[in-house]
Amino acid sequence: MACGFSRLTALLALCSISGSLAQLSGSVGPTSSLSSKQGTICNVLNYGGSVGSSDIGPAIGKAFSDCVTKATNGATLYVPPGNYNMQTWQTLNHGTKWAFQLDGVITRTSTTGGNMIVIQNANDFEFFSSTGKGAIQGNGYQCRNAGPRLIRVVTSNNWSLHDIIMVDSPEFHLVIQDGSNGEVYNTVIRGGNLGGSDGIDVWGTNYWIHDIEVTNRDECVTVKSPANHIQVEQIWCNQSGGSAIGSLGANTTIQNVLYRNVYTNGGNQIFMIKSNGGSGTVQNVNLENFIARNTAYGLDIDQYWSSQSTAPGNGVQLKDITFSNWDGFITDGARRAPIQVLCADGAPCTDININNVNLWAANNQATNKCRSAYGTGACLKSGSGGSYSQVTKTISKPPAFTTPATMSGDLSDGFPTNSPIPIPTIPPSFFPGTQPLKALAGK
Ligand SMILES: *[C@@H]1O[C@H](CO)[C@@H](O)[C@H](O)[C@H]1NC(C)=O
Ligand SMILES: *[C@@H]1O[C@H](CO)[C@@H](O)[C@H](O)[C@H]1NC(C)=O
Ligand SMILES: *[C@@H]1O[C@H](CO)[C@@H](O)[C@H](O)[C@H]1NC(C)=O
Repeated sequence: MACGFSRLTALLALCSISGSLAQLSGSVGPTSSLSSKQGTICNVLNYGGSVGSSDIGPAIGKAFSDCVTKATNGATLYVPPGNYNMQTWQTLNHGTKWAFQLDGVITRTSTTGGNMIVIQNANDFEFFSSTGKGAIQGNGYQCRNAGPRLIRVVTSNNWSLHDIIMVDSPEFHLVIQDGSNGEVYNTVIRGGNLGGSDGIDVWGTNYWIHDIEVTNRDECVTVKSPANHIQVEQIWCNQSGGSAIGSLGANTTIQNVLYRNVYTNGGNQIFMIKSNGGSGTVQNVNLENFIARNTAYGLDIDQYWSSQSTAPGNGVQLKDITFSNWDGFITDGARRAPIQVLCADGAPCTDININNVNLWAANNQATNKCRSAYGTGACLKSGSGGSYSQVTKTISKPPAFTTPATMSGDLSDGFPTNSPIPIPTIPPSFFPGTQPLKALAGK
């Protein structure tokens, strides 16, 4: 939903100040400044850590428990530049008014499962690199889908994570679980070219995720249930699985989601809403200004998604979902539909609007597919009603289709799964023709 059409008076007030808050319910990020957290610096080198250490984990834990949580007026846990190995995972629980400044490079060396760093129940928190060079190297090629995730932020409020690089997690890279008022930006994630390498998975309330580049073969930036007020923008899914909402199961509650300015080069889909059975609702979702090249699937609503086992329920109800201003092409329009809206027969979709979506196929032939779906555009039936079986509509090249822009640094293939992935630098832009919404660190 565009700013001007918001039903919420408060949101209208915010919109008039800045168009950037279109789908947020209020401010995001730490409530106090970084400088107010720098009176106490908790340097891991003073808590048993050393550059080149074989396990920086205990020093991180000690700097947190003996310094950050004891500081009375804000503190910064500091990992200075240098290389560190890590083999014991740390849960940093209940910090308030604090920052984690990662300017070094931490490399995973143990295959223990779980998460290398968990930030839990934090309030007024900032996780960042001051140089834009702080990184976690997961070396996932050594233990594919059999090791830890990199970073998990759990039930935390008023926080941000920015200018951090995450590379080759054995499993997911960044998981945001519940909590509220978070902001993630200026971040690069590079995973292996296979499933289970999720970039960012988010659920919770009032999150702004922007200026992110993800390379992998699974979720790029994906919203899961329950979620409310999620805004995702200036995203570069660079040979990634693509962004999505899902997978969705029983009692789904997702609403007020905006994705805009999403560039997808290669990968599985331009955008997917995926479920199989399930119940509950996804509503008021806007997906606008997408550019895509050479994806396998295009605009893809699939409520019969075969990679998910069937969840209890007649289907998740999708309603008030608008796709607008898309330009792009899939690789093979004979095998897959640029646009498919396959809704649950037990819960037909309503008010799906596909406006100015100009998708085509590299092999110059395409058929769109609709099932139990109502709204406007593509092969949707108008109005509302019961289930109907799949209809197909052969299309010709949309007259408004233009060859999508490219980004400098696009790869033609994903990264290998069986050899190290180098740590990249954070790119100057995440969507063709735009600057990051916040200045990059160290620039
Ligand atoms: C988050 O910050 C807001 C002020 O911006 C405050 O009202 C709220 O209580 C904070 N959340 C928590 C859990 O402290
Ligand atoms: C969904 O909600 C129903 C009713 O509250 C509950 O019985 C069921 O356990 C829930 N299922 C899940 C997967 O949360
Ligand atoms: C994606 O973007 C980066 C720039 O950050 C570029 O160097 C790289 O070649 C691109 N492709 C992948 C797969 O990262």
